[in-house]
Amino acid sequence: ADSSAPADLESRITSGMRDVPDFPKEGVVFKDITPLLADPESLRAVVAGIAGRYARGSVDAVLGLEARGFILGAPIALELGAGFVPVRKAGKLPRETHRASYDLEYGSETIEMHADAVGPGSRVLIVDDVLATGGTARAAVELVDKAGGTVVGFSVLVELGFLQGRRKLTDVEPHALAVL
Ligand code: PRP
Repeated sequence: ADSSAPADLESRITSGMRDVPDFPKEGVVFKDITPLLADPESLRAVVAGIAGRYARGSVDAVLGLEARGFILGAPIALELGAGFVPVRKAGKLPRETHRASYDLEYGSETIEMHADAVGPGSRVLIVDDVLATGGTARAAVELVDKAGGTVVGFSVLVELGFLQGRRKLTDVEPHALAVL
């Protein structure tokens, strides 16, 4: 079978992930993608699966969202001939940053990007492992807006469709290699 076909890639992803109940806290089912990353063919297939959606030269920067978006974002950036930009949890980046916050079930979370990492008019692809409630995704789009960049894509390995996170993304149509 052609392992690059979308349906084959989707089943490779769903069978390569592990559900971990009650992690990091009770009631949450954690999606562990580490078995997928550890398998050479799967790692290559998911990087190619996302990078293949965008033409080489059509993206200036790939934004990877801490922490698993870093792992996928860098090889995708290399494939596309783009640079890599980390978006981190608050307090981790040393220089001037743009900040965006989103609500969690209890409290809120803030993410940051270096203010000079994305230039005005820069074409940005945002990459992460999972789209869940969409809070992280929406905040990442806000960071690109603040920097004057243009989001040309938002790609994840897995979308948890039942959480309807894509509703939080108004100007961007998210793309997922697999939907649960
Ligand atoms: C997870 C995941 C996404 C985010 C998705 O990261 O990797 O970044 O949550 O959730 P949302 O759509 O509800 O915002 P996490 O917060 O666990 O951070 P980590 O990767 O640094 O552990």
